[in-house]
Amino acid sequence: MKITWESLVPSCCISENPKPKPKQSKLVTKQSSFHRISVSDFSGSEDLSISLAGSNLHIFSVQELKVITQNFSSSNFLGEGGFGPVHKGFIDDKLRPGLQAQPVAVKLLDLDGTQGHREWLTEVIFLGQLRHPHLVKLIGYCCEEEHRLLAYEYMPRGSLENQLFRRYSVSLPWSTRMKIALGAAKGLAFLHEAEKPVIYRDFKASNILLDSEYNAKLSDFGLAKDGPEGDDTHVSTRVMGTQGYAAPEYLMTGHLTAASDVYSFGVVLLELLTGRRSVDKSRPNREQNLADWARPQLKDARKLGRIIDPRLEGLYSEEGVQKAALVAYQCLSHRPKARPDMSTVVKTLETLKDYKDISTMTFVYIAPVDQHKQSPQKELVNKRNTNSHHHTKSPHKRLTPNSPLHNDFHRA
Ligand SMILES: Nc1ncnc2c1ncn2[C@@H]1O[C@H](COP(=O)(O)OP(=O)(O)OP(=O)(O)O)[C@@H](O)[C@H]1O
Ligand SMILES: [Mg+2]
Repeated sequence: MKITWESLVPSCCISENPKPKPKQSKLVTKQSSFHRISVSDFSGSEDLSISLAGSNLHIFSVQELKVITQNFSSSNFLGEGGFGPVHKGFIDDKLRPGLQAQPVAVKLLDLDGTQGHREWLTEVIFLGQLRHPHLVKLIGYCCEEEHRLLAYEYMPRGSLENQLFRRYSVSLPWSTRMKIALGAAKGLAFLHEAEKPVIYRDFKASNILLDSEYNAKLSDFGLAKDGPEGDDTHVSTRVMGTQGYAAPEYLMTGHLTAASDVYSFGVVLLELLTGRRSVDKSRPNREQNLADWARPQLKDARKLGRIIDPRLEGLYSEEGVQKAALVAYQCLSHRPKARPDMSTVVKTLETLKDYKDISTMTFVYIAPVDQHKQSPQKELVNKRNTNSHHHTKSPHKRLTPNSPLHNDFHRA
């Protein structure tokens, strides 16, 4: 059954003026002391703009967002996920005082899709209040009649998924991959170590966005949860997330902890190391789930050499790869308590960011045929596995309460 937004939180979008049509854009005003409110604190009877006072979020009208995105023109289309289509737009400096001219990405809720007001509200409540260099910045939102939109800072290099797996994309160098891993790890560490910790629950390559310098920022907080409180060790939830990234104990029990995010981080680190998708149905059976296939090979240098992304063409630091592989191995432990916390991961990855993209290929001297006519040549011989890179597109399967996988598990 589809839950409509009206039945969930009917009046959260009401401002002081009950029926402004069209709603005039305004800025949620500042407040001197500001504590993060949770989705659960939000009864729905109050005005969202008042609850989020202090967040500096702009409230847009549908009409304004149409102007910003040139009527959601197809030439501005950036992509589409479970929430709905995303379009690039541009805010000019005349739109309103205090909002500087800038490019934005505008996400529009697909009213026929599987997500709805609940995900939109969760995103606004979390991202409206959390600010960090490694979290994408939410600039504002729109809640007009049944329409739900979100406006974010524009991330010129799109998602890590696009960069890593898009057909014809240029292969990311090793040092860039480590920079991305470190940035994303810092984003997760910030969430886990906040005064009121947050479990992100949807850490995956498509939710890591990249700016022009490959700084990674986490996006999509629609599934985020407040961490356990008091003596609780976990949060019990419906199993949601994305197949191939979700931690095994969470799939089995529905018990969610920060360690579940750490597992998902390990999967993304493996994607960066191997250039393979977390799930790839086009591969032989035993290779389809990346974590299951790769983990046993991470601690043996010889085996590790065989699973490293061939598109790196041997251009990486051997020691750097081994250290990163060890981090992935630990994050992917089936015992959640054995996984490192994200600040430990950050510390280890910090030591890897300065490793250069050194060639690990062997130089072979080839004697010229005619020594008088030709100068000696050097030829690069790649010792590594040269299997061609798979560009297969295998869209990830969302885990929802209705998915067969979900129904197979019992939860507390
Ligand atoms: N702030 C942004 N700047 C630039 N591109 C963006 C931004 N936000 C999203 N995109 C692009 O829009 C596309 C869709 O993103 P979206 O987050 O809606 O879906 P997704 O992450 O691919 O799937 P899912 O629904 O499983 O999260 C992505 O390919 C991403 O590259
Ligand atoms: Mg996303």
